[in-house]
Amino acid sequence: MLCLPLSRNYFTAYCLLPSAYYFMNKLTIKDLDLAGKRVFIRVDFNVPLKDGKVEEDTRIRGALPTINYATQQGARVILASHLGRPKGERNDEFSLHPVAAHLSEVLGKPVEFAEDCVGDAVKAKVDALKDGDVLLLENLRFHKEEEANDDGFAKQLAELCDGLYVNDAFGAAHRAHASTAGITKHVARAAAGLLMERELNYLTKATTNPKRPFVAILGGAKVSDKIDVINALIDRKVDKLLIGGAMAYTFFKAEGFTVGKSLVENDKLDLAREIKRRAEEKGVELLLPTDHQVVDSYDPLNSRKTIPIEFTNAGLVGLDIGAETAKLFADALQGAQTIIWNGPMGVFEEKGFDEGTIAIAKAVADAADAGATVIVGGGDSVSALTQAGVAERITHVSTGGGATLEFLAGEELPGVTALSDK
Ligand code: 3PG
Repeated sequence: MLCLPLSRNYFTAYCLLPSAYYFMNKLTIKDLDLAGKRVFIRVDFNVPLKDGKVEEDTRIRGALPTINYATQQGARVILASHLGRPKGERNDEFSLHPVAAHLSEVLGKPVEFAEDCVGDAVKAKVDALKDGDVLLLENLRFHKEEEANDDGFAKQLAELCDGLYVNDAFGAAHRAHASTAGITKHVARAAAGLLMERELNYLTKATTNPKRPFVAILGGAKVSDKIDVINALIDRKVDKLLIGGAMAYTFFKAEGFTVGKSLVENDKLDLAREIKRRAEEKGVELLLPTDHQVVDSYDPLNSRKTIPIEFTNAGLVGLDIGAETAKLFADALQGAQTIIWNGPMGVFEEKGFDEGTIAIAKAVADAADAGATVIVGGGDSVSALTQAGVAERITHVSTGGGATLEFLAGEELPGVTALSDK
């Protein structure tokens, strides 16, 4: 049967093609001749900053193998990234300056910093690079042309290098921006970086003929953010689907439970019923919380308690799963061979309401120790792994949030599509 490798729907594509065909056909950095050349490497250094310092550096460390490989090959490395959403305007709050300092520390060598990403001053910095040197450009999103995938801007970026482009920004691969898509039209060779390759390998392996039982844990605030991934997981016949976080309340309300003032998407109640129906039809076990931590909306500071879901009255707000649910979910992971987790179980950023998410972090780490392939993505889930001190035990900690979800939902990733074929 004939099928285009760049089909709109990756799931369709890899159902018909040998597994992993979609990106295995792409150039990787190892295919490039880098010695003495200026190479433009798109990284995802969109990391949390606090008091002018990098707070969490999984994404920076994730790019080190690619950067080290390029410098060892004698390339002159130009790194570019976005940080936050500065909406096309220069804003010091979103400067990558602190990231350059942090990168220099973890790389163990100096990292030059350019105050912009295009223009004569940047060109001068690039021209001054010697073989093995590293330069980080200022936030690409200080120019509105970046997100607009403006062709002129993409060309300006491309002109900084010697026709060699590497995309190692898996976390931004779902964006068709100038630095992830447009630029590839203006370079001779566009290749995947080592992190990009590793991410795609793990996600493909886990979702193409996954070892079973295959369990997915999804959390976060909204069903609407995860609808495509939920449907794709049901179609893939995940054995169990565990849903926590505020999005569980939309399911509860759809079932007729009182959810008090908990976050609900009232326009998604039918959707929640439909998901439940589809899960039943496909034999997917859908597990929702049985208890939760709530506060009284009139006295949020002093009223925290754990109650069964069905005891929720009109004045209560649910903010985390309870201990019984944490155990229910941990038990559901027993014997699992493949686990995918994305999204927090509660208001993770609030002390006291991070317990459910931390409990899941520990449970997936135990499952990994017991032999399961465990893939965790999404900022809060990854932070929970770090806080729980279990990140090292996880098979693959993904640097992608939205990108991982879009991949799992079967969407094509424009940042991968745009790379050169072998
Ligand atoms: C992310 O954090 O998911 C990526 O860096 C993409 O960021 P964005 O959602 O602002 O495009």
